[in-house]
Amino acid sequence: KILILDFGSQYTQLIARRVREIGVYSEIRAFDITEAEIREYAPNGIILAGGPESVIELDSPRAPQCVFELGLPVLGICYGMQTMAEQLGGAVEGSHKREFGYAQVHIDEETALFKDIKDHVDFETDKGLLDVWMSHGDKVARVPPEFTVTASTPSCPIAAMAWEAKRFYGVQFHPEVTHTRQGQRILEHFVLDICGAEKWWTPAQIIEDQISRVREQVGDRHVLLGLSGGVDSSVVAALLHKAIGDQLTCVFVDNGLLRKDEGEQVMETFARHMGVKVIRVDAEELFLTKLAGEADPEAKRKIIGNTFIDVFDAEAAKIEGVDFLAQGTIYPDVIESAAAKTGKAHVIKSHHNVGGLPETMKLTLVEPLRELFKDEVRKLGVELGLPYDMVYRHPFPGPGLGVRILGEVKKEYADILREADAIFIEELHKADWYHKTSQAFAVFLPVKSVGVVGDARRYEWVIALRAVETIDFMTARWAHLPYELLETVSNRIINEISGVSRVTYDVSSKPPATIEWE
Ligand code: XMP
Repeated sequence: KILILDFGSQYTQLIARRVREIGVYSEIRAFDITEAEIREYAPNGIILAGGPESVIELDSPRAPQCVFELGLPVLGICYGMQTMAEQLGGAVEGSHKREFGYAQVHIDEETALFKDIKDHVDFETDKGLLDVWMSHGDKVARVPPEFTVTASTPSCPIAAMAWEAKRFYGVQFHPEVTHTRQGQRILEHFVLDICGAEKWWTPAQIIEDQISRVREQVGDRHVLLGLSGGVDSSVVAALLHKAIGDQLTCVFVDNGLLRKDEGEQVMETFARHMGVKVIRVDAEELFLTKLAGEADPEAKRKIIGNTFIDVFDAEAAKIEGVDFLAQGTIYPDVIESAAAKTGKAHVIKSHHNVGGLPETMKLTLVEPLRELFKDEVRKLGVELGLPYDMVYRHPFPGPGLGVRILGEVKKEYADILREADAIFIEELHKADWYHKTSQAFAVFLPVKSVGVVGDARRYEWVIALRAVETIDFMTARWAHLPYELLETVSNRIINEISGVSRVTYDVSSKPPATIEWE
C-alpha cells in the first residue's frame, strides 16, 4: 500500500484514486504525520502531493524528515518535489508567474520512473518527449547533491529529478491528471515496479474484506439502515445483506418528492429481488402538509430534513433490538471532515447523512464505505449485483423534487414534474446522451404561459430543462444537447402532460448559477 501526504492540493484525492485504479490500496494523510504513524501504516512507498503554498515561505509545510530516512521509495509531485529538493539540500526559486497547462518535457535521462515511456521522440537528441500538464509557480532551481535532472522544459529546466539508488523521484508536472497522457503509466512504474506494492485492491477483494469486518463488528446483533435509493446507501444495503442477511433492516422513507417510479424500483430491487428486509414508510402526505405554504428554499430544505428525521426516528423506535446504524459515508466525506477539523481544508462541506436519532437508542455506526471513492463504490455495486442503471444514476439531492418545484410545493406540481422529468431522462437515454451529462433533470416553474392547441387557447405551467457537464459539481457547464433531442423532449412534454404549455432549456453555467434552481 501507498501513503500519500497531503499538502492541500485539490489533486491529492485524484492521486489516491489513480493509485487505487492500479489495484493498490492508498490512503491520504496530513503532511505532519508522525514517524510512529507512518511505521504503523507500513507503506511500500510514499507520495508527497502538491499544495498551494510556497516552499520558500518559512512557515510553509514540510514532509517529516523521517520520510527520507525510512529506506522507502518517495515520489514528490509538484509542491512535493519542491519540498523534497529543499529538505535534501537543493534550492527552490519563487515566482509570481504561474505555468499552467500543457507542456512538453524532454526526458534527459531514462530512470525507472520513465522506463519505456514516451509520447514522441526528439529528433535532435533521440530522447523521449512527454506531453504533460503543469500547474506551478515556484520551481526547483538546484537539485540536491546525489540527484540528477531527469527531465526538462525550456521554461522549467528541472521538470523531474531522481536519486535512483535511494529510489527518490520528483516530477514538477502532474501525472495524476489525464492531460498527462502517460501519467497513469508513470504512477504504475512508481507503485508497482519501484515500490513493489501488490495489486490486491479489487472490488471482489474489497467486498470480501468488508464482509468479514462487518461480521466481526456486528456479531449476531442487528443493524438499521436508512435506504434512500441513492448509490451509497444502496451499496451499503447490498453489502450488509450479503454480510449479515436478516440482521439488517432498512427503512425507506417515501417523502412524495421522489422521481417517477423510484419507490417501486427500490422495493423491487431490494425487497423482492434481493430479499432485503425493507420497511417502506409512505410519508407523502405528512411531507406535503408540512411544506404547505412555504416558498423559501432554505426553509423548505429544513422542513424536509427535519421531517425525514422525525419519520425515520419514529420508525426506528418501533424496531426492537437494534444496536447499530449503518451509513453510506464515503472516503471524500472522511477526508473533508478530517481536513475541516485540522483547519487545513480548502473545500469545506458539511456532511449530513441520517440526522439525530433518539439519544436513548445509543447506536454504534457501521460505515463499510468509509475507505472508498465514489467510482469504487459504483464498481462494488455492480459486483454486488445491483442494476447498472441504479449504480450509475445521476446524483439526486436529498430534498428531491422539493427544490425542483420553485416556491411552494404542491402534489399537483410534483406529479407534473415527475412526468416531465421521466420523459426528459428517457429521451436522454434513447439518444445516448444520459451518460454524457453529469446531471440532468426537469424543473417546475409555477408561472402560467399562453399556448394554443388546435383552436383552443391554453394557459398553463412552464417546465425548464437542465443538463450539465461537470467533474466535481463545484463548477459546471450547461450541456450542449442536440436541438433535435430538445425538440423531441419539448414536444413530448407539451403533448403528453396536461397542464404544461411551454418548455425552456437552461443555458446558465455554474458559477454564477447553481446546478439546482433553488
Ligand atoms: P448546486 O445546486 O449547489 O448543486 O450547484 C451541486 C450538487 O449538489 C446537489 N444538491 C444537494 N444535495 N441536498 C443534497 O443532498 C441538498 O440540499 C442539495 N442541493 C444541491 C445538486 O443536486 C448537485 O448535484
